[in-house]
Amino acid sequence: MKLTHVLLAAPLLASAILFAAPTVIRGPYLQLATPTSMVVRWRTDTTETSVVTYGTARNELKSNAKSAGTTADHVVQLSKLQPNTRYYYAVGPVPFAGTPARDDDDDAPAGARVNSFVTPPEAGTSKPTRVWVLGDPGTANNVQRAVRDHYYTFTGTRGTDLWLLLGDNAYPHGTDAEHQRAIFDIYPETLRSSPVWPAMGNHDAGSATSLTQSGVFFDVFTLPTMGQAGGMMSGTEAYYAFDYANIHFICLDSHDTDRSETGAMMQWLKADLAATKRDWIVAFFHHPTYTKGTHNSDSDTDSGGRMKDMRQNFLPVLEAGGVDLVLTGHSHVYERSFLIDGHYGKSETFNAAAHVKQKVDGRADGTGVYRKPRTRAPHLGEISVVTGSAGHASAKPVPLNHPVFFLSLNEAGSSVIDVDGLKLEFTFINDKGEKRDWFTIVKE
Ligand SMILES: [Fe+2]
Repeated sequence: MKLTHVLLAAPLLASAILFAAPTVIRGPYLQLATPTSMVVRWRTDTTETSVVTYGTARNELKSNAKSAGTTADHVVQLSKLQPNTRYYYAVGPVPFAGTPARDDDDDAPAGARVNSFVTPPEAGTSKPTRVWVLGDPGTANNVQRAVRDHYYTFTGTRGTDLWLLLGDNAYPHGTDAEHQRAIFDIYPETLRSSPVWPAMGNHDAGSATSLTQSGVFFDVFTLPTMGQAGGMMSGTEAYYAFDYANIHFICLDSHDTDRSETGAMMQWLKADLAATKRDWIVAFFHHPTYTKGTHNSDSDTDSGGRMKDMRQNFLPVLEAGGVDLVLTGHSHVYERSFLIDGHYGKSETFNAAAHVKQKVDGRADGTGVYRKPRTRAPHLGEISVVTGSAGHASAKPVPLNHPVFFLSLNEAGSSVIDVDGLKLEFTFINDKGEKRDWFTIVKE
């Protein structure tokens, strides 16, 4: 949904006004985080005004923001926030204006619950950052819940700064009801405390169209079209970029947008890569450049040739732009490459001597971490990770034999990125809570 609402902010009224509390049936959830703004969204069972009360102390929600009119699907932007600052907030009209919303206790209705988030730091500054990465989560089954719960155990009180959805976020057709079951009913705690940045998958595209930016994916998520979160303006929510601290994230639409070398997405990508000054570049999209899991990237017809297009057309541009990580899903496995560059053909053309930049396993407790120069430059190598098993692994045996990969696993799980300055650590945790892969990239 485009952020076109007229946004208003005013001090709370001094007079006491009693509101009938609507029931919050979705969210609240956080979108389009910038160092100075946050979009808060939620859904109520009845049409109501859209109000967020907020402040920097839990018991002093002194400010409010609202959108014009009444609706059941609320989109309110909080602006003029301080970077890297925790804000407490509650959605919906407070019971008595001027009185803080009720505290965060189990008996409080969701709409009165006081939640909190931390705004991103100023772009370019360095801050320890945790990113949760979920590919193909949208099954709404017990595997998805187990993957979630083991991440929650892993992260504990650390908190998640932001999270990525790599597409197929809601099976099987990406309907609104499927988004409710697979996203909003599964991750309520993370949704209300950490901004989520989604890519579109083929199943989500069953209810959405990128060309017109219409349908459920575009209705449910508020994404940057104007470069307002960092990076070049894309003019569309189908693909976009944003910054968090010293990391530049690029989300491509591998399913429903022109993937040709002359297309608008390609022109935007080149401009965006040329402009960014961040230390790290993380690209994410749905269709993997390489996989031998539940899909085969050697097939020109598998998934309509989208894997081939992303590998042949987009990967050279990403590598020329200095990408560090390429994250994809679609194949319901975990596959993690060596530090590679320049392989755009089928697996039989892979030549380790030419395409593997560093032959170590990337582990401090193994044969050594990956090391890249301090200054970003073309073709220094990236790690490609297919992490498309946050909702299910393959029920059948799969080949898992693509030679670009250091490790291939047919296991459900999710991935975690921790960036601290010039060190990036990556971890894959399976649905049994086991740390099944890890690697580190250091820039020096
Ligand atoms: Fe898919």
